[in-house]
Amino acid sequence: MDSPTPGRTEAPGDRAAPDTGLPPVFVSRPLPAAVLSRLEKSAAVEVWNGDGPPSASELRERTRHVVGLLATSADRVDADLLDASPDLAVVSNNAVGYDNVDVAELTRRRIPLGNTPGVLTEATADLAFALVLATTRRLVEARDAILAGQWKTWDPAFMLGMELSGSTLGVVGLGRIGRAVARRAAAFGMNVIAWSRSPQPMDGVELVELDELLARSDVVSLHVSLVSETVHLIGAEQLALMKPTAVLVNTARGAVVDQAALSDALRAGSIGGAGLDVLEQEPIAPDDPLLAFTNCIVLPHIGSATVVTRTRMADLAVDNLLAGVAGERLPACVNPEVYEPPAI
Ligand code: DGY
Repeated sequence: MDSPTPGRTEAPGDRAAPDTGLPPVFVSRPLPAAVLSRLEKSAAVEVWNGDGPPSASELRERTRHVVGLLATSADRVDADLLDASPDLAVVSNNAVGYDNVDVAELTRRRIPLGNTPGVLTEATADLAFALVLATTRRLVEARDAILAGQWKTWDPAFMLGMELSGSTLGVVGLGRIGRAVARRAAAFGMNVIAWSRSPQPMDGVELVELDELLARSDVVSLHVSLVSETVHLIGAEQLALMKPTAVLVNTARGAVVDQAALSDALRAGSIGGAGLDVLEQEPIAPDDPLLAFTNCIVLPHIGSATVVTRTRMADLAVDNLLAGVAGERLPACVNPEVYEPPAI
């Protein structure tokens, strides 16, 4: 049985590191058991098992004396946290995205940041395509209609949706996940067009400007990372370019879309619908207007949520953490500049 770390407050359900002489690390959300036991062979691990992520002050407290932090996108890793954690030698984010981390601040302090690229591509692309199908074929509305007793007979005009074959998918951001979504769309007989900040050609995909993509697409699927240039990339002006029948799917990051503008567009009927796995504020407030639209499907950020993918992510995050603790190069490093000799 683990004993609490002396001098620390035990939160309900959290698990403190035993005094093993191994390098201390803090893990801000539970890991799959097999992955955790691998980590425990090489580090003294404290795992946060609370209902939600630790608060900012709790995270500061827990990382005060550790050399490694395994964080998630729910944790803010910023200068305040780093100031309070003088021994921190590595931050490993259990996510491919890292907009929760002040990367420049880490780099300035020569602390490597790890992430989990590649391992979640297929699961996230599946979820994006699930939203494409669910929105265009009105799956949630159709199920709700049964529950409301509205299924009376086979009706030739009931719950008509969009035919994917022959329609156009616009992929915004043609990185790993965008490409995986483009492959799925091609298999469904869709024409695929794409816009990317750093365009790389892909067979069968026409690269176009963003405005043209928005005007031509029947479905727009977002796959850009969240950086200052992509905050509200899709706002009122961009939504106004979309066809009134077109559907917007977002499995990237909530802030890529101006959510208030999206609510306005759905209310005005100027777009056909939306499928969102990510929101500007997570979890979404229960009274958010987006939840009231029948043509808007909102999911709780589950893009990578398969058993296989979450295990692979945790494995890679642990590999990054252990490499950093050992002073070795991280297998997936966001800021490799930290390995270059300091400028004099
Ligand atoms: C990712 O890996 O970036 C997922 O969205 C989880 O945060």
